[in-house]
Amino acid sequence: MRFAVFASGNGSNFEAILKAVKRNEISAELVCLFSDKSTSYAVQRAKDNGVPYFILEKESKQTKEEYETKLVYLMKKEKVDCVVLAGYMRILGKTFLTAYPNRVINIHPSLLPNFPGKYGIKDAFDRGVKKTGITIHQVDDGIDTGPIIFQKEIETKDFKTLEELEEKIHELEHKYYPIVIEEFVRELMTE
Ligand code: GRF
Repeated sequence: MRFAVFASGNGSNFEAILKAVKRNEISAELVCLFSDKSTSYAVQRAKDNGVPYFILEKESKQTKEEYETKLVYLMKKEKVDCVVLAGYMRILGKTFLTAYPNRVINIHPSLLPNFPGKYGIKDAFDRGVKKTGITIHQVDDGIDTGPIIFQKEIETKDFKTLEELEEKIHELEHKYYPIVIEEFVRELMTE
């Protein structure tokens, strides 16, 4: 089983996944990092760790379908079987998801369906909800929708500032995403 990580930003989850791969905690091969942004720090982390990486920036005249057709071609060429999104900021559409049915998962820093979108941690903090957490889910073509695979809750009252809460959420992400990825790839291996 061969998987790729897609990231657009900092890439701390990518690094946590990479460490788990190196510790043999994930029984699939990490083929590459893919990014839609050449400037993303995730790309730097791939370079620093000798992980193959690919960058495809979407051209403004390109349709989503054209962009994803190229992406599918690239992933198939690399013999990627499944995909793990880790801060990938594009919404995958039908072209990609049809090529990888039930083979893409995502992590989100809130208890979905609450607070989807870019600011999951801040939105929950500002709303003053009692509980927040992380969600790992199968990806469909909506924004942070798709069947939920895993959630971990925490009490927001334990965190005085948004920064403290963010730190805790990221710690949970780094701990649980590799574990859920391992379950995900193992299940695919039985198909
Ligand atoms: C994470 O909080 C993840 O839940 C969300 O985007 C963030 C990515 O962080 N989808 P990083 O780039 O892995 O540091």
